[in-house]
Amino acid sequence: MKNVHLLDHPLIQHKISLLRDINTDTKEFRELVQEISMLMGYEVTRDMTLKEVEIETPVGIARTKVISGKKLGIVPVLRAGLGMVDGMLQLLPMAKVGHIGLYRDPVTLQPVEYYCKMPYDVEERDIVILDPMLATGGSASVAIKYIKDKNVNNIKLMCLIASKPGIERINKDHPDVEIYCAAIDEELNDHGYIVPGLGDAGDRLFGTK
Ligand code: PRP
Ligand code: URA
Repeated sequence: MKNVHLLDHPLIQHKISLLRDINTDTKEFRELVQEISMLMGYEVTRDMTLKEVEIETPVGIARTKVISGKKLGIVPVLRAGLGMVDGMLQLLPMAKVGHIGLYRDPVTLQPVEYYCKMPYDVEERDIVILDPMLATGGSASVAIKYIKDKNVNNIKLMCLIASKPGIERINKDHPDVEIYCAAIDEELNDHGYIVPGLGDAGDRLFGTK
């Protein structure tokens, strides 16, 4: 496995444990996904470029820094990626949000695209794709390809739980993409679910099962 950043801050690890718990209800699950996304966003944005500026304080001139350079876009993969948007927007209120609608066919496990809408200037942005689960990696791989086809050069993938096979798939299909995750699980079951994972992220976020 390469290009993987496992974010193991104690707060993130603690919240991931609560998120995995079968007894965590929909409200708490949603809050945890938002909180973890904000904490992870702090690391995912660590390489944003800065420029020096002069700021007038009440007692003098401070030579200090502000964010500059390329703007950021975030792209949740529907549905479950939606739960990660607000946490990221708390850090980056000016980020534009694109959407990619994909669902995984329950029999073939292949991703099926049903909706896509990107910011008009997506090719000028660095993009962070949001999806809580990287299972077979099929959905993330298709999402990355879609965005690459829009001439975006710098794409990061941010997920909460990644499987080893999912990471390997992204390494193979997109060796230029860095993956940020809060946990790495060994395997998938026969239905393509991450084991032990946390179950179906979309259903747990939206209370649909
Ligand atoms: C889940 C998850 C990912 C995908 C991961 O979405 O949110 O998008 O599965 O699986 P993969 O790595 O094997 O492709 P799902 O298809 O359940 O749709 P949903 O978010 O609408 O529930
Ligand atoms: N999608 C989910 O929501 N959970 C998994 O474990 C795998 C795919």
